[in-house]
Order: sequence, then C-alpha cells, then structure tokens
Amino acid sequence: MTVREILKMGDPRLLRHAALITEFDTPQLHALVADMMETMVAASGAGLAAPQIGVDLQLVIFGTGQVSPRYPDAQPIPATVLLNPVITPMGAIEQEDWEGCLSVPGLRAKVPRWEQIRYTGFDVKGQRIERVADGFHARVVQHECDHLIGVLYPMRVRDFTHFGFNSVLFPGLAAESDD
Ligand code: NI
Repeated sequence: MTVREILKMGDPRLLRHAALITEFDTPQLHALVADMMETMVAASGAGLAAPQIGVDLQLVIFGTGQVSPRYPDAQPIPATVLLNPVITPMGAIEQEDWEGCLSVPGLRAKVPRWEQIRYTGFDVKGQRIERVADGFHARVVQHECDHLIGVLYPMRVRDFTHFGFNSVLFPGLAAESDD
C-alpha cells in the first residue's frame, strides 16, 4: 500500500467525468482501494474519490469508523468502498453545512446538498450496495460522487459569505489539519 499524492484544485484531471468500472474483484482494483484507504487515513479525510489521486474511474471510499478529527461532531459513517455509484435524491429538501476537501486544502464553505438520498453501486467484489442516507452521511456521499463528474465543492457554493480559510473560520480545529 502506498500513500498517493492528492491532486489539488486547478489540476485538469479533477474535472473529468470518470469512467465506469467494468471488471470487479481484480488485483489492480484491490490495490487501488488499498492505496486510497491509506491515503485517506493519512490525510484524516472522511472520503476520497479515485480522480483525486489521478485515477479516472468511478470509485469512491468514505467512512468515519471512529470520530473524524476533521468532523468531530458528525455521526459515524460506515467504512464503504463504492463503485459506479448512482445517487437519487429523496424529497426536495436541501441543507447547507460546512465542507472541506483534500483537493482544496485550507478552505471550507457552506454547501447545499440533498438532505436525504438513496445511493446504489457496487463493492469491490461486485456485490450490489443500496442504502438510504441522510445528514452528514448523505453529504459525504454527494461530495465524493461529485468528484466523479468533475465537480469540486466550491462549484456548488451559493453564498460566498460562508467561504473562507479553515484557520480563520475554525481556529481551534485548524491546528489538527490544514483542511
Ligand atoms: Ni473532495
């Protein structure tokens, strides 16, 4: 396993529409997931999408097995590897809350997201996943899946009065992580 370099906003590889995964349970896929896990843990992230390490595939990982130091007040999210995800909003309610991104270090913004979603996809072995999620869980899934269509959270921000540097917005948390 290797900690991979996380691409930062401005890199055109973050703007691509990622390709569908057509073969599951391959050694290459398992190695990619292992690298992504290690990279996410090393960065104390709540999620990571394959395009963030330059891999043009529809693969996201997320989860906060324990409380994430970056999101100490959030509900725990099951550790999940999700391939070829599809998100369906349930209802028309949106919520705005703070988000950061490992590809946008040092910044946070309030981002509108669907409050409740259904998401489907496959695990690394090709077993189907279907879940209903709300709140922070739903937010993380929407954020990570946006990476698969070339969308970074600043593109979703509507109210730029709630967009700023982490160290200014949350001075207590800033010491733990740059983003
Ligand atoms: Ni992100």
